[in-house]
Amino acid sequence: LKTGMKAVMKVFLTRRIPQEGMKILSAAGVCEVSQWDSDEPVPRTELLKGVQGAHGLLCLLSDKIDAEVLDAAGPNLKVISTMSVGFDHLALDEIKKRGIRIGYTPDVLTDATAELTVALLLATARRLPEGVEEVKNGGWSSWKPLWLCGYGLMGSTVGVVGLGRIGMAIAQRLLPFGVNRLLYSGRTAKPRAAEVKGEFVPLDTLVSESDFIVVSCSLTPETQGLCDKAFFSKMKKTAVFINSSRGAVVNQEDLYEALSSGQIAAAGLDVTTPEPLPTNHPLLTLKNCVVLPHIGSATYSTRGVMSALTAQNLLGGLQDSDMPSELRF
Ligand code: NDP
Ligand code: DGY
Repeated sequence: LKTGMKAVMKVFLTRRIPQEGMKILSAAGVCEVSQWDSDEPVPRTELLKGVQGAHGLLCLLSDKIDAEVLDAAGPNLKVISTMSVGFDHLALDEIKKRGIRIGYTPDVLTDATAELTVALLLATARRLPEGVEEVKNGGWSSWKPLWLCGYGLMGSTVGVVGLGRIGMAIAQRLLPFGVNRLLYSGRTAKPRAAEVKGEFVPLDTLVSESDFIVVSCSLTPETQGLCDKAFFSKMKKTAVFINSSRGAVVNQEDLYEALSSGQIAAAGLDVTTPEPLPTNHPLLTLKNCVVLPHIGSATYSTRGVMSALTAQNLLGGLQDSDMPSELRF
């Protein structure tokens, strides 16, 4: 390098991202961007190729960043910035071992995700997709006393598994519907729970006493498969189960069994395993299961802000300076 010339660092983006983030990266003028220029996920081989020699990696939740990817990147890599708040796709121990920093997107997607979760809960409990379908297929013959009846929130008990940022925002939105008791479970009691009159209870109590169960915890070894046969068998037969965290928190075979046998009333899922859920998956044959394609944070403005924060985190890591949202792990 000639004296006075700034070293340009190499970054790899695993996808097209909203323009807000791209503008920040190009305006900074400190990195040379290469990108998987597609709206579809980068194939593994292209990821392994693209990341070679990179100083920064901007990825999404669909990219598994493990030892193989880190080895392919090599010793230059100093920051991984994921356009997500969830970080279960990142091999934290391997990343830590190599001294690489991580940026993520907490807070900026909390409202959008909570809103979608409430929408999913209402759609599931009040059977909206079934109703829409009946209007289209001629199944609507008349107003009938018990046709398409569901369950309402007024006077109900809601259980939130994982009262974190999003769990709190869901609770705040549900309370005005007339919820009577708000239970929550997790590793530790949360001081902020007082704002929603939340009662910290053992998971078993939450499961057996709730009319609506909303899962909003992070995916960890402890929460993987948490919602299984034993979990569903303790739920009320009239209870509705909602998951907007990660698919792997739920044992889907056990959920199918609980839904098809009438053990529980209904389920709404924004997240599944795998994603996408194959179109021939048994869960999709059930009328009492509403499945959405992981759209919790999908508002234009939220995705724009997420991409901007992801870009700022990447730049902070590249320049050994503060990142607006650094994951401490
Ligand atoms: P937070 O870290 O604020 O909340 C996660 C919560 O999970 C914490 O309160 C934590 O409680 C709790 N938790 C951890 N272990 C357990 C456990 N064993 N049992 C019950 N709760 C547990 O994260 P956010 O609220 O911002 O996000 C939560 C998750 O939502 C993300 O990790 C992501 O997977 C998912 N998500 C999904 C979206 C979608 O599009 N559907 C959008 C955004 C996020 P404690 O502190 O006690 O450990
Ligand atoms: C996340 O950020 O973890 C969500 O799943 C997508 O916004």
